[in-house]
Amino acid sequence: MEILISNWSNVEFVPKTYIFPPESRPGKLEFPVCTDIPLIDLAHNNPDETIQQVIRACHEFGFFQVINHGVSENLMDDTMNIYKEFFKLPGEYKAKFYSNDINKSCKIYSSSLAYDTDEVHYWRDTFTHRCHPLEEHIPSWPDKPTNYREVVSEYSIETRKLFNKILDMICKGLGLEKGYFEGELSKTHLISVNHHIPCPNPSLTLGMPVHSDPNLITMLQQGEVPGLQILKDGQWIGVKHIPHTLIVIPGLQLKVISNDRFMTPVHRVVTHPKEARTTIGVFLGPSPEFLIKPATALIHTESVFRAFAYPEFLEAFVGPAKFDAQLALNHFRSKP
Ligand code: OGA
Ligand code: NI
Repeated sequence: MEILISNWSNVEFVPKTYIFPPESRPGKLEFPVCTDIPLIDLAHNNPDETIQQVIRACHEFGFFQVINHGVSENLMDDTMNIYKEFFKLPGEYKAKFYSNDINKSCKIYSSSLAYDTDEVHYWRDTFTHRCHPLEEHIPSWPDKPTNYREVVSEYSIETRKLFNKILDMICKGLGLEKGYFEGELSKTHLISVNHHIPCPNPSLTLGMPVHSDPNLITMLQQGEVPGLQILKDGQWIGVKHIPHTLIVIPGLQLKVISNDRFMTPVHRVVTHPKEARTTIGVFLGPSPEFLIKPATALIHTESVFRAFAYPEFLEAFVGPAKFDAQLALNHFRSKP
C-alpha cells in the first residue's frame, strides 16, 4: 500500500493497520469543546498585565491562544495555502523528501518516524524542516509550490520574532535574567506540518499520538477543520478554532526550567469524516549540546529535575518512553 496518505484517493474504508484497539481509539465522533482556553491580546495597553496572563496560563492550563501577535493574516493564509498545495503535489515529487531518519532535517513521513514498527499507523502525513539559520536550510526546502521558499522564509522570520516576544514575557514574568532563553536554549527552530485526509471512520483512528511536546515551546496555526484535543481532568476536549489566532504550548523543556511550575498538556489529534485537515506547527528547542536544568532563580527549596543534555532526553523519548515525553521526563526527576 502507498505509505503517504496524501497520495490516496477514494478512501472508502479504514485499512486494518489504521484501526486502533478499543482502549486507545477515540470511540466516538462528538467531543465537548473547550471554551475556556486563555485568549491573550499581545497588543494590550498594559504589558505587565499581559505578562501576568501568560504566566497564569502556563501555570494553570499550559495552553493559550494569542491575538494581535504580529504575524499578518495574509502571511498566515499564504502559508496555509502553500502547505495545502504541497500535500496535493504528485506522489513522485513528495517521494524525493520521504525519510524516517530522525537526524534528517527536511523530510516527509507518514504516521510516525517509527512507521516500519508502528503497531497501528496514525492517519497523517507530516512534512518538516529546520528554519534557522535560514540561509543554511533554504537549499534543502522544496521548490514547489513555486513560492514555497519565499513565503515560508517570511513565516519563519515572523514566527521566530513572535517566539522571542513570548519568551521575553515569560522571562520577565518568572523573574529570570534578561535573555535567558536566547542562544543555545532556542537554537533549533523547525516547522512541522500535519496533514490528514478525510477518514471514513474517525471513531477508529487517530491523526496524531497522545503526546506532550518535548521541545521548549510550540506554536500552532490551525486551519478551519477541527481535530486537536487536550486531556483536561481526565477528559478529551476539542480545541475550538478561532481564525488567525495562534495556539502557544509550553514544551517540556520549559517545564524543567520552571522547576515544574509550568503545565505541558497532553494532547492528540482526531480525524475528520469529510474534510482534509492541515495544521502548521512551529517548534523551538535547545541545541543538542546544551545542558537543561531548572533556573537557579526558581529553585527555592529543591531542584525537581537533575541537569541533562537534550540528546539524553531525546534518547529516553524515542527509546524506553516510546515517544511519551512526560514519561521520558520522569527519568530526569531528582526524586523518581
Ligand atoms: C504537534 C501537535 C497538533 C495539530 O505537532 O505537536 O500537537 O493540531 N499538533 O496538528
Ligand atoms: Ni503537540
